[in-house]
Amino acid sequence: MKKHLLDYNLKVRLPIIVFTALLAFTVTYYASYAERNGIGYSPEQPIKYSHKLHAGDMRIDCKYCHIGVEKSRVASVPSADICMNCHTVARADRPEIVKLIKYYNEGKPIEWKRIHRVPDFVYFNHSVHVNKNIDCVNCHGDVKQMEQVAQVNSFTMGACLTCHRNPEQKIFNYEQVKGNLKKGPENCAACHR
Ligand code: HEC
Ligand code: HEC
Ligand code: HEC
Ligand code: HEC
Ligand code: HEC
Repeated sequence: MKKHLLDYNLKVRLPIIVFTALLAFTVTYYASYAERNGIGYSPEQPIKYSHKLHAGDMRIDCKYCHIGVEKSRVASVPSADICMNCHTVARADRPEIVKLIKYYNEGKPIEWKRIHRVPDFVYFNHSVHVNKNIDCVNCHGDVKQMEQVAQVNSFTMGACLTCHRNPEQKIFNYEQVKGNLKKGPENCAACHR
């Protein structure tokens, strides 16, 4: 009698256990997937710096601060001394600028939260894209209009390949830049070195 009950329980439960385990796996898989490719990710930053104000209204060139973008893999985020070119004077009494000056005087790096990222096993190089006049907007959206930067595009393998295969669909200024543009590579070793 007892043995029979046990068999019965296991027969009913096993599929439920397997189903629950599969469900849990699927949910965590997709949750972490969404996080890695965080469209909409827009963390609050240690200083309320606005791209809309500086790059939009004041028209400061992206490269004034993102000095690596034409020369190297990384665009790089500016250190406080670039800000201090102006903020020793500009709005020096405002609370957010007081914070900035404190970082600068103490020689501490500002811990800007990183937004866009590909995994370490992916090779991405800003300069090869930017030097072919592929505008930042194609990958980062209209940063000039952002008070706080948010990720607006997906940075998955599919997203890279879609543009490499069909640049005319993904590069908004394609007509202007196509003259000196090759197609982006599709072979695995180009991006996984
Ligand atoms: C005056 C300096 C300055 C200028 C000009 C500037 N940026 Fe930035 N940018 C920053 C700082 C500081 C951060 C880090 C804080 C943040 O995310 O807002 C940043 C962050 C970013 C990020 C997010 C980086 C990440 O973590 O993924 C992108 C993308 C970006 N900038 C694009 C642009 C583009 C495009 C332009 C030109 C239209 C531009 N920036 C002009 C200072 C600047
Ligand atoms: C080329 C000059 C210049 C550079 C470089 C610059 N700023 Fe500014 N920033 C200004 C000016 C001018 C204002 C005031 C604009 C206004 O209120 O109309 C301002 C305003 C601000 C404000 C708003 C202050 C307030 O509360 O009114 C913050 C915060 C700020 N900047 C942070 C930064 C940071 C951080 C950096 C470096 C990543 C930076 N700025 C680089 C010129 C600059
Ligand atoms: C072809 C797509 C593409 C274009 C064009 C592009 N970016 Fe990026 N950007 C990326 C990717 C992908 C990452 C993440 C790189 C990584 O994790 O190594 C990134 C990261 C960044 C970062 C943060 C990390 C870093 O490299 O410092 C900044 C800042 C940035 N981009 C600014 C810019 C600016 C400014 C421009 C235009 C001058 C630009 N990007 C053009 C795809 C692009
Ligand atoms: C908006 C279009 C676009 C997007 C998005 C894009 N690329 Fe490219 N990429 C290009 C084009 C066009 C070229 C070829 C440029 C040339 O040589 O004329 C290229 C070239 C490359 C190269 C070859 C040059 C080199 O560095 O060896 C690599 C690698 C590369 N891209 C990686 C990536 C990765 C990784 C991503 C995604 C995170 C990505 N790209 C997203 C358009 C794009
Ligand atoms: C244009 C650049 C590019 C090329 C070419 C490319 N990959 Fe990727 N690959 C990526 C990026 C970016 C990621 C990271 C995706 C993410 O974070 O979601 C990735 C992720 C992966 C992963 C990890 C699993 C995943 O989907 O996240 C594998 C495995 C992989 N690639 C295999 C390949 C193989 C095999 C090829 C050749 C057939 C290839 N890749 C060609 C850019 C590329």
